[in-house]
Amino acid sequence: MAADRARLPAGRGVRIEVCAPPERIAGLGMHPELNTFRPPERQKQALAGIAASADGCVTLATEGTQIVGYAALHRPDPLERWGRDDTGGIYELGAVEVAPAYRGQGLARRMLAATFNTGRFDDRVVVAALYYWHYDLERTGLSSFAYRDLLERLYKSVGFSVYPTDDPDVYAHAENALMARIGPKVPEAVLESFEALRFTREQGPWRCL
Ligand SMILES: CC(C)(COP(=O)(O)OP(=O)(O)OC[C@H]1O[C@@H](n2cnc3c(N)ncnc32)[C@H](O)[C@@H]1OP(=O)(O)O)[C@@H](O)C(=O)NCCC(=O)NCCS
Repeated sequence: MAADRARLPAGRGVRIEVCAPPERIAGLGMHPELNTFRPPERQKQALAGIAASADGCVTLATEGTQIVGYAALHRPDPLERWGRDDTGGIYELGAVEVAPAYRGQGLARRMLAATFNTGRFDDRVVVAALYYWHYDLERTGLSSFAYRDLLERLYKSVGFSVYPTDDPDVYAHAENALMARIGPKVPEAVLESFEALRFTREQGPWRCL
């Protein structure tokens, strides 16, 4: 029996917990290989902080008492381009991560679908910046372009599209992309803010005039 259980693919008993409260996150362990962005414990603290923030949402994939994946959405950092939005309607898909042993089973797709199916982001624009320096090329064995394709397919599955931008971090690297999901009930003012912030021209020579 134990051997049979051991042969079960990782992820069989995984639950998706949409917009988990911070105390739930704090009470769970982090899978030791959830370390793409930060050491697991530090990332857990960051996730709890996002869940506690105004309108932050951290959707979890859990197995037993362990977090094996997460998707985190939050208001953009005020110091960043999207943080200049003054409508309060622009959000950021900050990170999605699944522990390597649980990848390729649809967990990222399920977490994102469950999050957006709540309708909570229907009146918002959610931006996702794809930066190749965040790609886990080593553990997937993919090229940075194939990885970008993977992420594009994943995000498109929940309504994101690719948008041009003059953000130098994005346009200077073909492996990067700006994606956004414009919710079906987004107010005009939020859309206008999104359009204005996509092209700020802040790097242009007119700054020197
Ligand atoms: C990106 C990531 C979250 C995907 O998680 P996942 O649970 O494996 O994704 P899913 O199983 O839902 O699959 C999503 C898509 O990726 C594809 N995919 C997943 N792993 C793949 C691999 N190693 N090679 C090729 N395609 C792969 C799936 O086939 C699927 O595409 P499809 O539906 O068109 O077939 C995961 O690889 C990860 O944690 N990477 C490190 C962190 C990261 O890059 N996050 C994104 C930027 S913030």
